[in-house]
Amino acid sequence: MTKIFNIDPRNFKDCELEESAKILNEGGTVAFPTETVYGIGANALEEEAVKKIFEAKGRPSDNPLIVHISKEDQLKELAKDINKNAQLLIEKFWPGPLTIILNKRDKVPNCTTGGLNTVAIRMPSHRLARKLIGLSKVPVAAPSANISGKPSPTKGEHVVKDLKNRVDGIICGGHVQIGLESTVIDATGEVPIILRPGGVTKEEIEEALNMEIKVDPAIEGYFKKDLTPKSPGMKYTHYSPEAQVVIVTGNLEDTAKKIIELKKDAIEEGKKVGIMCTDETKEKYDGLVYSMGSRKKISTIALNMFHILRLFDETDVDIIFAEGIESAHLGSAIMNRMTKAAGYNIIKC
Ligand code: TXA
Ligand code: MG
Repeated sequence: MTKIFNIDPRNFKDCELEESAKILNEGGTVAFPTETVYGIGANALEEEAVKKIFEAKGRPSDNPLIVHISKEDQLKELAKDINKNAQLLIEKFWPGPLTIILNKRDKVPNCTTGGLNTVAIRMPSHRLARKLIGLSKVPVAAPSANISGKPSPTKGEHVVKDLKNRVDGIICGGHVQIGLESTVIDATGEVPIILRPGGVTKEEIEEALNMEIKVDPAIEGYFKKDLTPKSPGMKYTHYSPEAQVVIVTGNLEDTAKKIIELKKDAIEEGKKVGIMCTDETKEKYDGLVYSMGSRKKISTIALNMFHILRLFDETDVDIIFAEGIESAHLGSAIMNRMTKAAGYNIIKC
């Protein structure tokens, strides 16, 4: 049985989190909101607790978890060799949507890090999340709170749908603030490397460090599906709704024309079609059409993308044609998720 806690993230008392913090402290699992997406948490230092996360999600055991902390002094007990760049990243971006890979200390169990010698650490900026971690008195391992392969959850109801009766508790705390997972950056070497694009952009990191950083070639651009990514999680199929997704990229006018043409062909083949577009073009389409928001406000597109992928699961569509988003700043993280949802099925026009 899963206990559901409905909590207003903008206006809550510590006592509302006591029961869920106790579950975490005693080795149970609790899903909770963060500023990026909802996570499913357990004590990162207890092997039995961490195993429950992998079971609940159906997650491959070689895919390491992010350890969430509420205070900077928790860092030293988990990681070592924190170099100058790592320190700067912490000062500049914590609390917030940046996960930093560091060399791990022995007390972090191998199952938390998927057998790696490094550990991923993040301090969320979400006040409820940080309070929960603080009250639990343990570092909290937390992957996104979806069944492996499904779109990440951005609302409590998404988590309830995926994880009810698979975890001990779910905190339903409204909509997340960003809608995309954290950026994962490897800070163990001299030049930091982005392993997963996310809530903090490459441009922001380069400005903060005053240097050029690297991006894992396997995730740079979105056509290189043949390279093996450095971050284990990036190699798996991800974010997929039940229907097939096809992305159409290019100039907006041509993209819309192409989608209309593809839709016609698909309908002739007897398929039910959905369209995932933006406010700029939504009037051009008819039928089942969801807009992610305006291209002028990329943060809104980020916020809506996973929810819309999930909305299609409530319908009987067989195929979704989705407009591509310009791949710069937050757009590169959006396209990274969308192309994975599409299994790299992209039409350029
Ligand atoms: O925003 C987020 O990061 C959310 C919220 C809940 O905090 N969490 C999240 O966790 O997205 P998850 O497990 O879905 O993604 C973690 C990613 C995976 O791609 C994993 O392979 C990578 O981080 N990762 C974790 N530890 C790593 C390590 N030591 N080296 C390389 N990649 C690592
Ligand atoms: Mg995930």
